[in-house]
Amino acid sequence: MIARVLILFSMLGLLTAAIGSAHAADAKAGRKKAQMCAACHGIDGLSKMPMAPNIAGSPAMYLEKQMKSFRSEERKDETMNVVAKPLSDADIADLAAWYSGLTVDVTLPH
Ligand code: HEC
Repeated sequence: MIARVLILFSMLGLLTAAIGSAHAADAKAGRKKAQMCAACHGIDGLSKMPMAPNIAGSPAMYLEKQMKSFRSEERKDETMNVVAKPLSDADIADLAAWYSGLTVDVTLPH
């Protein structure tokens, strides 16, 4: 009996741990966090600096991958390695939600 209760409790523990680690990306929180990106990428994801790329409307998966690569320094860039270092997975998911959620309108030249 006690063993069963213990097993139940440990299963509940695992379940809560799993729920706790699954972070639902929050674009609104991402907008706030994007203040620290705005000088270079703009809050609108359009470059404000000659070296910085536009990131508005890029797929969230792509943005997340790039930020994690900068964080691990698998992708090297002096600026982005420093910027990405303190970001948590949740920060990255929120930032990706914000920037991927922006709509980009493209007009082809004639
Ligand atoms: C001081 C300027 C600066 C700041 C601040 C900055 N970035 Fe960057 N970012 C850059 C530069 C420069 C690059 C291009 C790096 C390269 O050439 O590999 C870049 C590249 C990126 C890329 C890769 C885009 C691509 O398509 O390859 C992403 C994603 C990105 N930044 C996200 C962010 C986010 C999110 C923040 C805020 C947390 C941020 N950056 C803050 C300058 C900046």
